[in-house]
Amino acid sequence: MLRTVIIATGNPAKFQEIKDIMGRYGIAARMSDIKVGVREGTLSYEENARLKASYVTARLGVDAFGEDSGIEVPALGGFPGIISARFIKGTDSDRNSALLDRMRHLGPSDRRAVFKACAVITFVNGAFVSGYGELSGRIIDGPAGENGFGYDPVFVPDGQGRTLAQMSPREKNDMSHRRRAVEAVLEKYVAYLKDGIDRK
Ligand code: IMP
Repeated sequence: MLRTVIIATGNPAKFQEIKDIMGRYGIAARMSDIKVGVREGTLSYEENARLKASYVTARLGVDAFGEDSGIEVPALGGFPGIISARFIKGTDSDRNSALLDRMRHLGPSDRRAVFKACAVITFVNGAFVSGYGELSGRIIDGPAGENGFGYDPVFVPDGQGRTLAQMSPREKNDMSHRRRAVEAVLEKYVAYLKDGIDRK
């Protein structure tokens, strides 16, 4: 492996997705065992991702990876967006029900949705690189499938006949917003490492 990067997340499902994608780049991933003690703001995915990563870099003195993501429904003005994980208290399934409820009155053309993700790797010297990814699709009427997490059971990507939760982890990872964001940040990270810049 080229390098080990500490992943600043407490979400095991996300960690596994990120680790699989990083493995393809020869980068080993380790989950941070310190609780990321930052309170995400409502500024942007990038800001939140950077906060998570830089917290771990500051605490452990190592390169760290942070990611922030959400789902946006244009017909609801981009809701829930940056507050996707917590727009109501409860479980993922509670939030799926709440989102479906708010979309009950919407016709098929208003059921479009976009997953967005931003990934950031922070360095000890204060520099950072970032990458962004999207996955477009639609929200269906009721949940289907058992895999994945979050809104996977209610989201069908464009060109697909199944929800993300009905796909294998590999199938999801091949198309996901997170994959695109992770790949974009890793391209920059690997270039940075290969440049041999003294980053201390
Ligand atoms: P974060 O941990 O603050 O980045 O929260 C992101 C939230 O967006 C998650 O808890 C999910 O609700 C949602 N989300 C982000 N990516 C995905 C995904 O790949 N599948 C399903 N839900 C996702």
